[in-house]
Amino acid sequence: MYKTRIIGTGSSTPEKVLTNKDLEAMVDTTEEWIITRTGIKERRIASDGETVSTFAYRAALNALDMAGVAPNELDIIIVGTITPDMPTPSVACILQNKLKATHAWAFDVSAGCTGFLYSLAIADNCIKAGSCKKALVVGTELLSKITDYQDRTTCILFGDGAGAVVVSREKGERGILSTHLYSDGSCADLLYMPGGGSACPASHESIAKRMHYLKMDGNKVFKIAVKSLEEAALTALRHNNLKGEDIDLLISHQANIRIIQAIAKRLDLPPEKVFMNIEKYGNTSSASIPIALDEANRQHRIKKNDLILLDAFGAGFTWGSALIRW
Ligand code: ACO
Repeated sequence: MYKTRIIGTGSSTPEKVLTNKDLEAMVDTTEEWIITRTGIKERRIASDGETVSTFAYRAALNALDMAGVAPNELDIIIVGTITPDMPTPSVACILQNKLKATHAWAFDVSAGCTGFLYSLAIADNCIKAGSCKKALVVGTELLSKITDYQDRTTCILFGDGAGAVVVSREKGERGILSTHLYSDGSCADLLYMPGGGSACPASHESIAKRMHYLKMDGNKVFKIAVKSLEEAALTALRHNNLKGEDIDLLISHQANIRIIQAIAKRLDLPPEKVFMNIEKYGNTSSASIPIALDEANRQHRIKKNDLILLDAFGAGFTWGSALIRW
């Protein structure tokens, strides 16, 4: 019996901190509004010269180090991101070169904030299919590069960073028990970036119209996110004949403290079984779950054989869950 097991975690975030007080000076908002409506106190923002692959590389090195795996042992590198260094080549190929992971094939996954979960599920399926033994899975974003710091409804939410895991084909019952992924493209216009693609390449006009920034109808996204995250979490439990009380730690996408609390309530989870670091990083999209997973792991919040539920929702819409026996 083989399973895909996470054998190393890593993360990396920028040094520069953007506080709610800083945002008060930039847009019409208050520290109190941001904390009560989102749970966010500060977020990390990349400095000039730092790119998405800068943090992906550091997070990957940390994960490889913990796993005791050399880059040339990797068969695949999968990177979830919506803010690549450039449209092409992929961040995964840039990372493959930086790591000198000469045996790995590498590609990016664009699935909004569910990018890491999609990437993890792909790695799990490749391992199950026998096409690889070791994979590096990364979630990395510089959302600050596509955030409109004149729009108070979005700029208070987003931050930068990267998280990574090394997964390996291992004997035994411990590892990824299931992944469930979903998409609904009919709601794409509730959370999107209109400019920069083939529909609207960069031009003086598109830049003047601020089309290269994320646009979101936060309130509508909020309601759909809660419902979708609940469904994905409950499906994971039902599929494995488990109940909410069996979960040792919920690591949900860190988009809004009220969303995470709603999921925890639905699963009947006490606060100590719910990991949160949204107050420090805000919403880092694809990076949020692997950063949280790495922090939980390094803080010894996760023990061998614990049942860990990952739950994510993002632009697309995309959403999903993964259940892991650690
Ligand atoms: N400061 C002060 N007031 C504000 C701010 C702000 N920063 N932003 C909005 N407001 C105002 C609004 O204008 C509105 O005022 P009005 O009542 O006079 O019209 C009022 O606050 C309430 O606005 P809502 O949008 O209804 O506030 P809500 O409680 O929904 O919170 C938020 C907004 C935080 C964006 C929330 O909706 C949310 O978290 N949405 C989900 C985000 C999410 O899950 N994203 C997932 C994926 S992200 C990705 O994939 C990249």
